[in-house]
Amino acid sequence: MCGIVGYIGDQQAYPILIRGLHRLEYRGYDSAGVSLISEKGDLNIYKAKGKVAALEESCKSQDLTGTIGIAHTRWATHGEPNQVNAHPHYSESRNLALVHNGIIENYKSLRTQLEEYGMTFASETDTEVLVQLIEYVKKDHNCDLFTAVQLALNYVVGAYAIAILEKDHPDQLVCARKGSPLVIGVSKKADGRTEFFLGSDATPIVEYTNQVVYLQDGEIAIMDRTGRLEIVDLKSTPQTPKMATLQLNLDQIEKGGFPHFMLKEIWEQPNALRNCIRGRINPANKDIILTGVLDHKERFLNCRRIIICACGTSWHSALIGKYFIEEACQIPVEVEYASEFRYRNPVILPDDIVIAVSQSGETADTLAAIELAKEKGAFLYGICNVIGSSIPRATDSGTYLHVGPEIGVASTKAFTGQVITLSMLGLAIAKVRKSLSDEMYHMLVEELYKIPDKMQWTLENNKDIDKFAERFTYCKNFLYLGRGYNYPVALEGALKLKEISYIHAEGYPAAEMKHGPIALVDAEMPVVVIAPKRGMYDKIVSNIQEIKSRGGKIISVVTEGDVTVKGMSDYTFTIPDTRDCYVPLLAVIPLQLLSYYVAVTKGCNVDQPRNLAKSVTVE
Ligand code: G6P
Repeated sequence: MCGIVGYIGDQQAYPILIRGLHRLEYRGYDSAGVSLISEKGDLNIYKAKGKVAALEESCKSQDLTGTIGIAHTRWATHGEPNQVNAHPHYSESRNLALVHNGIIENYKSLRTQLEEYGMTFASETDTEVLVQLIEYVKKDHNCDLFTAVQLALNYVVGAYAIAILEKDHPDQLVCARKGSPLVIGVSKKADGRTEFFLGSDATPIVEYTNQVVYLQDGEIAIMDRTGRLEIVDLKSTPQTPKMATLQLNLDQIEKGGFPHFMLKEIWEQPNALRNCIRGRINPANKDIILTGVLDHKERFLNCRRIIICACGTSWHSALIGKYFIEEACQIPVEVEYASEFRYRNPVILPDDIVIAVSQSGETADTLAAIELAKEKGAFLYGICNVIGSSIPRATDSGTYLHVGPEIGVASTKAFTGQVITLSMLGLAIAKVRKSLSDEMYHMLVEELYKIPDKMQWTLENNKDIDKFAERFTYCKNFLYLGRGYNYPVALEGALKLKEISYIHAEGYPAAEMKHGPIALVDAEMPVVVIAPKRGMYDKIVSNIQEIKSRGGKIISVVTEGDVTVKGMSDYTFTIPDTRDCYVPLLAVIPLQLLSYYVAVTKGCNVDQPRNLAKSVTVE
């Protein structure tokens, strides 16, 4: 939520900042703003409601000079998404400008106190309180900005990533983080000059340098044009900057000829999943090697319960993971909404393993849930996509998805990456605990290895979804039904549709339909049924009959060669045959495409749906 960009060096900052904002727009697009210290020495702030393009338009005739600047794209929390509440925010003297990602929980009491000291506020945001506080502390202690930030942040409760400019010191940039991510890019030139780049993630940085420092929680940094990068913690203790090399390239974060990131990411899935299983599945001996499990064998051997915490789409993949792990390992698995788990004093036993599933690795609720589990002594395992993000750093062990950056706000390849990773995890645990026969284990590994090819087949054979999607654009409601492993797929299909096309959709276990949703079924109601020719096929055929006899329109996902369900359906998507536990990896693909084409036909912005953000770093 909210994206921050910053730059100090010898290039003009504005184009770098705007490019960076475009890359971070997935984090929020309620408003955008930029602050520059101009060649004349002015500290300018320009901001606009809406997207980065609106900002560019609005500041065309402004003074955009300057080799230092900060910028922000906002997902509104405090204060409506208008121009006044947009970042950057000035301090009262207009000597400081600040951008912020996060939430300051005690901002009301801080604001009251600062107002008592005579300070006035222009906006309703918690962010303005921060910049005013820093200015107040700076004057009160008669100190420099770096020191003032260190002192001020000790009064602050909440989450933040901030970057600050000071008019009188155009040669330095100060930033800090606690609970919200911040990456510093360092580019050292052959002639000794150094440029610094800031980003909420590495996407605004990657085209300039692959050398980065991931700022840690509670750290404050100062960068200047001499190449100085100094980091301290909140107690002002110096910290050594740890340089890392980015594993990201520019192609991965561009659209590559697709009209939207979402479509690109849907089509990337076969390759993304090949990358995910590479080096982990050995097809020759049908074995899985997950170092995250092997390095902690005893933990997995002695574990008596697994709790998986996640939010949104990641919660759906966690549910599939539960079914898989319980079946393969015979360990009880609970799946928790991280936002609920963190606030209800859950029972966590010493031999529990708590798994966090998160694409971004930054979701505030998931992070808080595992911190709580850590306090209670659980062993923590992270399943994340963004390398170096907060959750992998907070966990004892884990597995990265390696599906590449996911930019579209609606998650697609991260979902299938999570499902396949949870399947590998289940198999790796089963091997440690010897809970599967060798024959079953090898057969499941062998079939898992074939999934990327079967995904490719699914994509190639469902290309015409675009042709009939328009028939559904005027629908007000959709129902998605599935049983067993496909119940979470129904939830995910419904979520995809509602988040990008704004059509109300619900996912249900197919048998539960009789306990309520069936009352909604009429000739206007499309019902999407995941009906592979496997496990509970006959039961789902009965569910389809029940819908048909009430006039509902059936859109089915069936196994190649199936004629029964196809004959009962108004529209059919076909997937290749696979084991029950892997059907979600294939069945979700036509549902992703359906929601994509319905949304595009409706004229919706699929990559940036209203009110949503990709990385939810506030609770
Ligand atoms: C947001 C995103 C979803 C995502 C969820 C959890 O709501 O729009 O796509 O599933 O956050 O995010 P995480 O990064 O933890 O998987």
